[in-house]
Formats: sequence, structure tokens, C-alpha cells
Amino acid sequence: MTTMAADAGAQDTTAHEADFDAAVAADERIEPRDWMPDAYRATLVRQIAQHAHSEIIGMQPEANWITRAPSLRRKAILMAKVQDEAGHGLYLYSAAETLGTGRDELLDKLHSGRQKYSSIFNYPTLTWADVGAIGWLVDGAAITNQVPLCRCSYGPYARAMVRICKEESFHQRQGYELLLALSRGTEAQHAMAQDAVDRWWWPSLMMFGPPDAESAHSAQSMAWKIKRHSNDELRQRFVDICVPQAASLGLTLPDPGLRWNEERGRHDFGAIDWTEFQEVLRGNGPCNDQRIGQRRRAHEEGAWVREAAAAYAAKHGKATA
Ligand SMILES: [Fe+2]
Ligand SMILES: [Fe+2]
Repeated sequence: MTTMAADAGAQDTTAHEADFDAAVAADERIEPRDWMPDAYRATLVRQIAQHAHSEIIGMQPEANWITRAPSLRRKAILMAKVQDEAGHGLYLYSAAETLGTGRDELLDKLHSGRQKYSSIFNYPTLTWADVGAIGWLVDGAAITNQVPLCRCSYGPYARAMVRICKEESFHQRQGYELLLALSRGTEAQHAMAQDAVDRWWWPSLMMFGPPDAESAHSAQSMAWKIKRHSNDELRQRFVDICVPQAASLGLTLPDPGLRWNEERGRHDFGAIDWTEFQEVLRGNGPCNDQRIGQRRRAHEEGAWVREAAAAYAAKHGKATA
């Protein structure tokens, strides 16, 4: 490249960058064909991939209970929910594809441990009440995180989130309704619901990520309007939403430090055990190996489906050409 061409290229980038910054500042959407900084693209791919992986890995702990659901109604609801999560994974892998990264590459990174999924899915579902606790707390935390993403600066991600959030809110309500039925049931059922909430509460709070001061990507993501609120702000919102809901469920949240703070107009809550979070993140959670092993197996066993679909597409393509 000549010096003049290099200069022109640099000027182009500066002009593109100015357009991009102006669009973000004006709350306009960035679309796949628009110029975007490489780091913005990479951040989105990382975040959308992690989100997509969480959706499909998240199918496992709940699918574990489909065959043991206590009634046909509960089984139908749970099957619909688990199927929704597969759909969420598909929307999100498609959103990542608009950034130039294919699904094969992302799945390969998941299977080889180079990309992560939400740590929450490394906890086991020990009883039927866990299905309720996951719906109420895990899907509830996901909604709190994801509603602001409907206004994310990247168009395809924002639009995928609109539909996902609608479905997540059904998931949250089915979990609440399940727990309510158990809480109002026999003493043993009530105890089972309480035990599930005791086990899922703290991991749900960890879903919002590390405290703001230690969050590596937060500031830049907020400047790019990928992220709209900080981890701590979203976590606080979630706690404030859950406290009255727990009261109407007749269940307690396992935190002696939880109390209304009149001055702040919000709830104070106890310290989170971040060592546990880091351990699970490092792969030492109760189910890390099981989850990724199952995912790899499912991928290998599904090879014939992908081959058949590709062969059909090739044949169909020829027939219509
Ligand atoms: Fe989902
Ligand atoms: Fe969900």
C-alpha cells in the first residue's frame, strides 16, 4: 500500500468511527452491514455466543425432570419451556452469524472450553421444586438482565431479545406458580420448595456477574450501549423484585442480612460468596463436567442429522436451480 492510500484508509476509518459514534450517541441501531469497530464486533460475538450457549446448556438441568413431572399438565409446560430455550439458542446463534461468526465455530469453542456459558447451569436439579426455583429465580434474573438488552445498540441482538424476553416472562411465571402450589401443599411439599429456594438464591444473584469494580468489560460495553445498567444495579433491582414475591409465596430468602433500607429506598442484602462463583467459573462446580460432556455427546450423536440436512439442502438447491 502506498503512503497516500494508507492515509486515505486511515481517514476513512476516522470518518466511519465518527458515524458509528454519532449513531450510538443518537440511540440508533447498528446493523450488520454498517461499519463497526473490531472490538465492538468481538465484544458482541463473545456476549451473544455466551448467551446462546447458556440457553442450550440450560436445557439440561430442567430436561432432567421431564420424565418425572408430577402431572401431564406440568410435563406439557416443562416440555414447552425447554423447547423455548432451544429456540432462544437458535435466535442468538443467528444473531452472532450476522457478525460473521458461524455456528460451527461457536459450538466448537463451547465444546473445547474456549467460550463460556452461565455458571448457574453447573448446579444440579435435585428435586421437582428446583424446576419452580429455576423458573422463578433463574429465568427471573435472566429477564432483569435481558429487558435492557432489548435496547442494545446492535439491531439483530436487540430484536432477538424482544421475543426472548416475552418467553422468559412465561418461564418466570410458571416457576412462580409451581412454587406457590408446593408452598401451599403438604408440609413436605412446602419444605421441598423452601429447600430449592435456599439452594438457588445465591447462585441467582451471581448471575449478574462480578461487582462493578471488578467487572472487566462493563465500562466499554456501557459506552457502546450494549449494556445499559451495571451488574450491581441489576442485582439490586432483582433483589427488590424478589423480596415481596417471596413473601407472597410464603417462602423465605436465605439471607439474614436482607432488610429494607428506608434511606436508600431499596433492600440491603448480605455478602455474596465470590470464591464459590470463581470456583464454578474455573470448572469446579458440581455439574461442569456433566453438562459439557452431555453437550459434546449430543453434538456428536446429532452429526447424522446435520449431514442429512446438508445433503437435502444440496439436492434441493440443485433441483430448483
Ligand atoms: Fe431462554
Ligand atoms: Fe427461560
